[in-house]
Amino acid sequence: MHAVITALPGDGIGPEVVAEGLRVLHRVGEQWGHRFEVREALLGGCAIDATGTALPEATLQACRDSDAVLLGAVGGPKWDDPAASVRPEQGLLGLRKALGLFANLRPVTLHPRLIAASPLRPERLQGVDLLVVRELTGGIYFGEKGRDATPDGGESAYDECVYTTAEIERIVRVAAQLARSRRRKLTSVDKANVLETSRLWRSVTARLMREEYPDVQLEHMLVDACAMHLIRRPADFDVIVTENMFGDILTDEAAMLAGSLGMLPSASLCAAAGHHRTSDVQPRRMGLYEPIHGSAPDIAGKGIANPLATILSVALLLRHSLGLDVEARAIEAAVARALDDGIVTGDIAAPGERVCTTTEVGAAVVERLVA
Ligand code: IPM
Ligand code: MG
Repeated sequence: MHAVITALPGDGIGPEVVAEGLRVLHRVGEQWGHRFEVREALLGGCAIDATGTALPEATLQACRDSDAVLLGAVGGPKWDDPAASVRPEQGLLGLRKALGLFANLRPVTLHPRLIAASPLRPERLQGVDLLVVRELTGGIYFGEKGRDATPDGGESAYDECVYTTAEIERIVRVAAQLARSRRRKLTSVDKANVLETSRLWRSVTARLMREEYPDVQLEHMLVDACAMHLIRRPADFDVIVTENMFGDILTDEAAMLAGSLGMLPSASLCAAAGHHRTSDVQPRRMGLYEPIHGSAPDIAGKGIANPLATILSVALLLRHSLGLDVEARAIEAAVARALDDGIVTGDIAAPGERVCTTTEVGAAVVERLVA
């Protein structure tokens, strides 16, 4: 296969972890005889520095012209001034919106070796295998926002939260479809006791599931209760579907089940066959793949960041955008073997254990890839 992939290393540790992800990607290409053509572009703080905008037109065009996008991370203290008119995060949000990437998949699984790295007691972690499906292009992230002056000389600020029936239906369908390929259990998370958007969310979800997915067990859960149950009984969850901001918060929490934010990959997908290059006979599903951790400016440039979330994101890229499930599984197996062999960065090392660098971990995964 020939595929075009845009790499957006971004800021902070982004370039270091993306380099390891690409190393694994190229090794897969060699072993299975695929040609992955990788083009690099600027996004986030580095794009602001070079061009004045977080999402340059050339970057957006490069992404549109590719089969998939691999992203490191954006942001850092250099661009954090709350009064700044351009922010790195605008680049990421603009890209998600422009590419129509409404479905964000964040799987949480736990390698046995990492149980010790989690702050939770081992018995609670037994059997944890969940998938959060986060709505990614609607809600409070994309509503109207602004400031007004108040008569007392102060200011007021607002962020509008809007969801439509169609937006809720399409994300719930993605989640329900995925639940069918797993344990057939879907937890829809909202705040229906307070928010109107959540009440619409709940009723649309209930109807759609009854009509289209009667074979998938549905439960509704309030977001505050979900935050608790994720810690109290995480193994009970199969697929969680929720709106943009709740999903943002709950996935950082869920990441701690896996021991470290440094372990979790994510996939952001558009509608099936919604995007294709004009040269394609068979439309492929465009997606953006990124570790869920951020740019971690405190450890950037030190070569100690955990590249596994990015490497696992490459596996998701192969599976969801290129349909290469065998190759995706091979990467996941290689990561598991590296962990079995104790190849770990500091964030997941047990006390006294040897700590590897970012490139050592990447090299160890490459060595363990078997076709
Ligand atoms: C995430 C991140 C982003 C988000 C930020 C960087 C805008 O936290 O992908 O979870 O809030 O969506
Ligand atoms: Mg987040």
